[in-house]
Amino acid sequence: MSYQDEYQASIDNPEAFWAEKADQLDWYKPATNVLSTDEHGIQRWFADGELNTCHLALDYHVDNGRGDQTALIYDSPVTDQQKKYSYRELRDQVALCAGMLKNHGVEKGDRVVIYLPMIPEALISMLACARLGAVHSVVFGGFAPPELAVRLDDATPKVLLTASCGIEINRVIEYKPIVDAAIEMASHKPDTCVVLQRPQATASMQDGRDVDWQQALADASPADCVPVKGTDPLYVLYTSGTTGKPKGVVRENGGHAVALKYSMSAIYDIEPGDVYWAASDVGWVVGHSYIVYAPLLHGCTTILYEGKPIMTPDAGAFWRVISEHGVKALFTAPTAFRAIKKEDPEAKLAGQYDLSCLKTIFAAGERLDPPTYEWLSDNFRVPVLDHWWQTETGWAIAAPLHGLEPMPVKPGSSTMAVPGFNVQILDEAGNRLGPNEQGFIAVKLPLPPSCLTTIWGDVERFKENYLQTYPGYFTTGDGGYIDEDGYVFIMGRVDDVINVAGHRLSTGEMEEVVGKHPMVAECAVIGRRDELKGQMPMGFVVLKNAEGAKPDQVVDELVQLVRKDIGAVAAFKEALVVGRLPKTRSGKILRKTLRAMVDGDDYVVPSTIEDPAALDEIKALL
Ligand code: COA
Ligand code: AMP
Repeated sequence: MSYQDEYQASIDNPEAFWAEKADQLDWYKPATNVLSTDEHGIQRWFADGELNTCHLALDYHVDNGRGDQTALIYDSPVTDQQKKYSYRELRDQVALCAGMLKNHGVEKGDRVVIYLPMIPEALISMLACARLGAVHSVVFGGFAPPELAVRLDDATPKVLLTASCGIEINRVIEYKPIVDAAIEMASHKPDTCVVLQRPQATASMQDGRDVDWQQALADASPADCVPVKGTDPLYVLYTSGTTGKPKGVVRENGGHAVALKYSMSAIYDIEPGDVYWAASDVGWVVGHSYIVYAPLLHGCTTILYEGKPIMTPDAGAFWRVISEHGVKALFTAPTAFRAIKKEDPEAKLAGQYDLSCLKTIFAAGERLDPPTYEWLSDNFRVPVLDHWWQTETGWAIAAPLHGLEPMPVKPGSSTMAVPGFNVQILDEAGNRLGPNEQGFIAVKLPLPPSCLTTIWGDVERFKENYLQTYPGYFTTGDGGYIDEDGYVFIMGRVDDVINVAGHRLSTGEMEEVVGKHPMVAECAVIGRRDELKGQMPMGFVVLKNAEGAKPDQVVDELVQLVRKDIGAVAAFKEALVVGRLPKTRSGKILRKTLRAMVDGDDYVVPSTIEDPAALDEIKALL
């Protein structure tokens, strides 16, 4: 079917369209109620269907001839190890891990927080939760104790799974002190903390709460898959919003499995048995969807890579993994390619490997900038495909539908709306804009399967954040336009969210942390353009008692404070002490103007500015 026909069918009759896609999965009980409206007025997919995501990802394949096929390749340059798991081996390990969780009281609907580095146990424990119908919440390793504590309090897990350490290139990052500090800070204490001791560090254990992973496994017996409803939650993944409190995006079992399975063929042009690699981290949505769930739902081999694009050991690392494991499609964030390009501008290291297996390169997480696109296209001679999505959707909203038909791409665009997503550009008042007119990007309801239907424990916040701005539409938080050919161009966030090295962060949250410093009277944090990481946070601070203050010392303390409260991943390294912040007469800080000024873009000084000299003063400091 052509893209146009497929897309039109998805918009004209979403229920029939998704019912047909759902038929490709082995439900215990297929849904009769494909799209329904719940008691909060939210549309939900496959409410009365019954399935188990782990069954679909593992047991189904073992039962249908893929038992000996490699399901998972763990490739870890930082520990100099590689390990392969067949579908059968992975199913058995997951079943045992599920048994271990069960021994510690985890049942259907219970939450399990996973704070693990990129090791097989991360994927195994996610699937083990799915097997029990429990809800996992993975927290990225680069977050500091307060971030973990907020998530513990919100998700209220029975069990926390962790390891003694992660490895950042050659630095051992001890996880257990972070976990201990987070549990100390949190009001909610998990009953059990299961700790995997890695050879690089030994975690100290707390009697009565902590148990050794290997011992706990030895005490367990395999657990079976527990049927869940299509709308039962599979996981909660916290993501940054405008305020300091992260939002727990809830992913439902049914819609998630249907959409991800469909995406593997329609977007990624991947067949069961192919090797697919998302070079991301399980702590982010890309890792959830495309390291763990989608490749396994589709019967592929997935790769879990514990390393970096550069320095593990060099900028040829990605090309080595691709050639060694026969990767057909690579998916990563543009920042990773920019890092490689910086180290190896002529892609000489790639020349050392046979990359004939590689058929496509996918990028997401931030806009694929045209110079990086061109560098990839010139050096690798395979389609280089940008696609746009967010934690909220769990899969792409706009993409080249490469598996439906080869589509010409336009550098800077993430191509067309994906079937199911009725993407529209709206003005501030909610009127639809025409081709090439820039505005707020919204998706007309119903959203397709897999998209969030609530924020964990707070359906009102979900409605307020996403559904109330433009009734009948889901607001994406991104701005952009659609050209005359239907190509979607994402121009960036219209809120306080920034994207640093493909990591989504909130400047609002950083402002809350910076504002806690006793010397800070007020502050603003913006994302400034950065050649390597896309954006980097930059603070502007006004000090209390400016006389006698040591601005450099305060800035150093602020950098440490953000690192301590949010984590190294925030990459907050720069702040400027200023006399006053530019504001409108009603007191709103002119963040957009500040950003344009810092980036060296053209800007118009708003007529509502209270004191134009505040901008001049900052300009002189830059
Ligand atoms: N655990 C602990 N610390 C972590 C971490 C983790 N899982 N991930 C990152 N950090 C730390 C880094 O070590 C670094 O610490 P430092 O300030 O002490 O040096 C800090 O967080 C910032 O990390 P990062 O923004 O990743 O910068 P980097 O300079 O270490 O690496 C890239 C830059 C481009 C190589 C790296 O960001 C990358 O590979 N990005 C790929 C993008 C990606 O995976 N995105 C996920 C969504 S698709
Ligand atoms: P996350 O929820 O971490 O996946 O981040 C989602 C945000 O990243 C989106 O709202 C966009 O701002 C940005 N983003 C992701 N992919 C792209 C892309 N291909 N082009 C432009 N922006 C993107």
